[in-house]
Amino acid sequence: MKRTHHCNELRSEHIGKDVVLSGWVHSRRDLGGLIFVDIRDREGRTQVVFDPSALASAVFELAGSLKSESVIQVNGRVRQRPAGTNNAKIATGEIEVVASQLEILNQAAVLPFPVDDPEVTSKVNEELRLQYRYLDIRRPELIRNLRLRSKVATATRIYFDEQGFLEVETPTLFKSTPEGAREFVVPSRTNPGLFYALPQSPQQFKQILMVSGVERYYQLARCYRDEDLRADRQPEFTQIDIEMSFIEREDIYNLVEGLLKRLWKTALGMDIPTPFPRMPFVEALNRFGIDKPDTRFAMELVDMTEDFRQSTFKVFQNVVAAGGVIKALNVKGMAGATQGQIETMTEIAKGFGAKGLAYIKAEGGEWKSTIVKFFSEAEKNALKQKLAIEEGDLVLFAADQWLNACEILGKIRLYCADILKNQGKLVIPSDRFNFLWVVDFPLVSFDKEMNRWYSSHHPFTAPVGEDIPLLKTDPKKVRGQHYDVVVNGVELGGGSIRIHQPDVQRVLFEEVLQIPPEMVQARFGYMLEAFRYGAPPHGGIALGFDRLVAILCGTTSIRDVIAFPKTAKGTCLMTQSPAAVEAKQLRDLHIEVKTAKKE
Ligand code: AMO
Ligand code: AMP
Repeated sequence: MKRTHHCNELRSEHIGKDVVLSGWVHSRRDLGGLIFVDIRDREGRTQVVFDPSALASAVFELAGSLKSESVIQVNGRVRQRPAGTNNAKIATGEIEVVASQLEILNQAAVLPFPVDDPEVTSKVNEELRLQYRYLDIRRPELIRNLRLRSKVATATRIYFDEQGFLEVETPTLFKSTPEGAREFVVPSRTNPGLFYALPQSPQQFKQILMVSGVERYYQLARCYRDEDLRADRQPEFTQIDIEMSFIEREDIYNLVEGLLKRLWKTALGMDIPTPFPRMPFVEALNRFGIDKPDTRFAMELVDMTEDFRQSTFKVFQNVVAAGGVIKALNVKGMAGATQGQIETMTEIAKGFGAKGLAYIKAEGGEWKSTIVKFFSEAEKNALKQKLAIEEGDLVLFAADQWLNACEILGKIRLYCADILKNQGKLVIPSDRFNFLWVVDFPLVSFDKEMNRWYSSHHPFTAPVGEDIPLLKTDPKKVRGQHYDVVVNGVELGGGSIRIHQPDVQRVLFEEVLQIPPEMVQARFGYMLEAFRYGAPPHGGIALGFDRLVAILCGTTSIRDVIAFPKTAKGTCLMTQSPAAVEAKQLRDLHIEVKTAKKE
């Protein structure tokens, strides 16, 4: 007999019906001669009663032998639970199934950790849970996340199909193009000494598909980046990757706003307002100190450069004289910051190369600070006014080159917000979604260590038309036609209008990015050539699908929405990968491994 219902289906209207349920033994209780088993499947739980007076004794004995998480099939009849025994916590709590037959399909061994109480399971050491990921996934929360992920993927495909897009699969054995993040390389057996690389994104293929005339492409694309991992980064992840021909930035904004509107409605039943506000990169840095601002709370940076231009406080005066800026941040209610917290903030500043972090604590009716004594009355007044300093405030200063000063306080702003949130002094509504487009990024940024310009986004991003003449003379002034979509401080996606003229692309590669012509030819020659044979103007974007689903699930770690994620070291604890390969495999691949000798 096959199962007739799932474990979250039976209600009072099924009373009297004969049913067959299949699933896992969630719990077993032996009470007053009766055995109660909660049987669980993906959908939920149902209580089954084994009553020795109504059962063959062999079946009752079998029920008594059931181990937690064994897989069983039960035949029985649905009945109303006796008065007072309803379980309001589960949807099937009004009924129970009186068993007539039981089959053990797979008796489970003792589990490495319990899975019947999600609270308990979620506290088990994460490494152990990752090693037994299949058991962790039995937690309703993870099942719910995977279910939502699947639903959102389907809604995405429907949306793009309606909009006339083709889903095209692009290769995942690609070639090394060391411009962006570090890559994973794959040796070729049939081409000794040569390597594929796994794609960081389908960027080049999707642009070439525009040359092919596909016009509207999308893909739920798997991407690979050998980066240092964090909660929002995995070495392999999924993008909703998009490219369109004959469009402008506005078309991408519309398309993505439509998609996100649809997905929020599908997943959360929520109407998100569109169009999203737009914020130039410079404004985002000036106000929030970051290019992906969380605008659910204010706590904005304030510029004090002009007020300190003539300051007697040398640290500030020197920075301004050297073309830098003085940025300040007033964190309300944080004057009680501990020494440890101040040290952490100072370390943040030092991480950007600053010598220190000046601050004022407005406490006990005075300004406690080692620097206030250097300030003139006019400077103090300017601070008081522009920062609205009150008792209980902590005011922090960053004196540095513009970008550094902004980024230092941007990080500190988030650090303080987190502390205040945990203290209940700052409320950041978790059910609010502040979307925005960050636009007008600089096309290129300067890397001091490498002493060269590099692309802020990637080298295929088109400059803003009127800035093209500056490409050769003043690259830092050139804005890119690049946009990021941000929600609640998370960079959800980024994209750009592309360069479709091979000569502009060549100028960017060779003259701005200073890649030698031979190297440009070797790495991107096929692309530049393709662009000679009829390349339409085009542009696109990619959204981080894992991040998107994580936000919809209300979790901050994308590991919670990936079935088999990797650890921070990039390992899979379940399969124990990466792992050594056999000597013969290496020989076939023409590879020799030099391992560091163990002491
Ligand atoms: P970008 O590199 O900005 O753009 O990536 C787009 C989005 O992908 C997500 N993402 C990640 N998610 C999880 N783990 C990672 N390691 C990771 N890295 C990136 C982010 C990010 O916003 N080809 C371009 C897009 C384009 O120009 O069309 C690209 O890949 O959410
Ligand atoms: P100093 O005169 O170097 O001892 O610095 C005086 C104060 O200014 C100390 O509190 C430092 O932490 C702080 N300070 C030093 N450099 C910076 C900077 N770049 N931005 C903000 N504060 C700084």
